[in-house]
Amino acid sequence: MLIKRKRGWELRESEATPESVFRDRRRVVQAMGMGALIAGAAPGAAALAAAPADPSAGLYPVKRNEGYTLDRPITDEGLATTYNNFYEFGSQKTIAEDAQELPIRPWSVVIDGMVDKPMTLAIDDLLKRVTLEERLYRHRCVEAWSMAVPWSGFPLKALVDLAQPLGSAKYLRMETFQNPKVAHGQKQFWYPWPYIEGMTMAEATNELAFLVTGMYGKPVPRQDGAPLRLALPWKYGFKSIKSIVRFSFTDQRPVGFWEKLQGNEYGFWANVNPEVPHPRWSQASERVLGAEGRRPTLLYNGYGEYVAALYQGLEGERLFM
Ligand code: MTE
Repeated sequence: MLIKRKRGWELRESEATPESVFRDRRRVVQAMGMGALIAGAAPGAAALAAAPADPSAGLYPVKRNEGYTLDRPITDEGLATTYNNFYEFGSQKTIAEDAQELPIRPWSVVIDGMVDKPMTLAIDDLLKRVTLEERLYRHRCVEAWSMAVPWSGFPLKALVDLAQPLGSAKYLRMETFQNPKVAHGQKQFWYPWPYIEGMTMAEATNELAFLVTGMYGKPVPRQDGAPLRLALPWKYGFKSIKSIVRFSFTDQRPVGFWEKLQGNEYGFWANVNPEVPHPRWSQASERVLGAEGRRPTLLYNGYGEYVAALYQGLEGERLFM
């Protein structure tokens, strides 16, 4: 599909909202005594508070797994929860308020495809079948900004074990909800809804692949992908699909939302690599939300010791785009 309109994340760094604008807004809001929420186009405290509470709140905070450490401070919660990419609610970063329309209960997750027994699980039943932990992960968007987040959740491998895929399954395909009545971005017919992402079984069972149910010691907010999203910290952020409703095991390589839209820019593997530029901007450095200046981008976003071996023998693939 030929897209003439520039999408939000295709803005050059110089065109994107500068951090200083956010910080200035924040100072004003803080001075008004409204805490870390960001003013202006960002969400109003009343709208965020009005959304029905998440019934899983009592599960948090969960114990931190100290095995995953950061080389930088944790991003301010107010920033990480108000600077979002969630195209279902629009192509701007300030979708947090609109995302409060998303009903997160009841919420079911379908597990199907090449599995022994397909099943549908209510999110709260799934939460009872796994052990939650907190992990500090870096998160690197393909737009060259990054943050560091305390996610709560469980290894994706635990869901794979629950699903018992057949030996013939080669890939895991995931799908986001489709509900244009509340997610107005889904009325934009030029996008290939629903949002799809996928990975190999070896990636899905790697210890880093993490299903997120919480953030900052609380349930993950709607704008960040409630009630269930993925975190694949060694890949560009668009692989970390939000608000998942379906996991399908398959022998066909899934074509993701962005790959379908613009395959020459966004591929299946999308591993972070400072030396492979996006066709329209460099990936050599990144803007760390809430920090001054830029940091050099790290190969596999600094997680090579966990994942580099997954790609041996695949050098012919477009591993970094
Ligand atoms: N998942 C869905 N369903 N829709 C989206 O638009 N955006 C992706 C990813 N997952 C997206 C999504 C992109 S581009 C990024 S960088 C991250 O979510 C952003 O996550 P955050 O808003 O929690 O920082």
